[in-house]
Amino acid sequence: MATPPNSSHASSQRWSSRWLFVLAAAGSAVGLGNIWKFPYIAGENGGGAFVLIYLVCIAAVGIPIMVSEVLMGRKGRSSPIHTMRKLAKVSSRSERWSILGWMGVLAGFLILSYYAVIAGWAVSYIWASGSGAFDGASAQAVGAHFDAFLASPIELIGYQTGFMILTIWIVGRGVTKGLETAIRWLMPLLFLLLIALLVYSFNSGGFGQGFAFMFDMKWEAVTADSWLIAMGQAFFTLSLGMGTMMAYGAYVPDDANLGTTVVTIAGLDTLIALAAGLAIFPIVFANGLEIAQGPGLTFVTLPLAFGQMPLGDLFGALFFLLLSFAAITSAISLTEPALAYLVEEYNAKRQRVAISLGIICWALGLGTVFSFNIWSDITFVGGLTFFDTVDYFSQNILLPLGGMLITFFAIWMLPKGLVDQQLGIDSPKLSLGWRLVAGIIAPLGVLAVFLSTTWPLLSGLWQ
Ligand code: PFF
Repeated sequence: MATPPNSSHASSQRWSSRWLFVLAAAGSAVGLGNIWKFPYIAGENGGGAFVLIYLVCIAAVGIPIMVSEVLMGRKGRSSPIHTMRKLAKVSSRSERWSILGWMGVLAGFLILSYYAVIAGWAVSYIWASGSGAFDGASAQAVGAHFDAFLASPIELIGYQTGFMILTIWIVGRGVTKGLETAIRWLMPLLFLLLIALLVYSFNSGGFGQGFAFMFDMKWEAVTADSWLIAMGQAFFTLSLGMGTMMAYGAYVPDDANLGTTVVTIAGLDTLIALAAGLAIFPIVFANGLEIAQGPGLTFVTLPLAFGQMPLGDLFGALFFLLLSFAAITSAISLTEPALAYLVEEYNAKRQRVAISLGIICWALGLGTVFSFNIWSDITFVGGLTFFDTVDYFSQNILLPLGGMLITFFAIWMLPKGLVDQQLGIDSPKLSLGWRLVAGIIAPLGVLAVFLSTTWPLLSGLWQ
């Protein structure tokens, strides 16, 4: 006799409402990418001009791919691997398309392995800022604090382990009890924290300068690369290309309108990225500091700036709390494709699967921890450290490849009627327009990003 599906199967679970899906997907989308990466690249690539380009990329590439992922997830009602298998069957296509699901599982693993390490840094900085460690400190002292932290594997592993345990505990409790409860609490708190930080930055004395840095139309700073950077960012920030949205889409109620739902999610993600920039830059400028890049901006320049401000300890701690909340709602989504698959395939207990996945991912993350200290001299292809390699392979190869193939499948492989019915499209003109944007423009846009980022490395390999 066939074993009855256990209650944590994707097919039997649903978000309690359309709004919970919107919040969960926005939680996945809003992460480290919005808060530390977007403000910096917008400022450097033409400010307002870049923001416009970015909006075009979100609309022409991001939204079509997200719609494709969610609609496939809702139609398949399983983990991405099983969804791809089912959809290939109903469309009389090769079951090999399920490789897309496998690529997503692998990408989720790799990304989570380092995401947990970096999120651990944010958690550690909640205490460091709140306890006044940066109060009136010099630039050298703040830089030395970060260097000493990165040089200590034990400390990094401690925070990484704590973050992984929390993530696994949440996802192990299931969609309603785990994911939804976390999202119901964390997302409103994230919005509140961001508003508090915006008010603080508005009164910092540097608001005008920060606003100008982000929104003045500096077309002269826009290059061909800016378009590719905008497209890559649109893609990563919306958590596309690895089946996360497909896995979350499996729990979307039948009556939710996918078009408006996805536009709301993308809108929230964009709004939060813009707000993050407006919360960060004025504080940096108010203290006469230079905008630094990547981790340096978040973990050195910002603590230094907060350290010079009244109530800086409190607001510095709140900023890192915001970053940690954004990271955990993304981290829980990274496990879903693999978790849902294993629960379905082996009819296994969600909690047990979550713990096993967590342990493997944690062990892989040790490679990232060591890349900042004892393995910092060990490099792979292109002179990249272990962390850089994992980051490069997942973000620049697996995600764009996955995204391209997902939209291609949704538009050209699935029966046309099925897509129109899922999207509620009833006019032939609209249907054609949708196929043009989602079936041609979006995959070509991703192809451009893919080739531009992988070409230098690939051409280096042949030489
Ligand atoms: N969207 C997240 C961010 O901007 O940080 C990163 C991410 C989460 C990518 C989940 C992919 C994913 F499946």
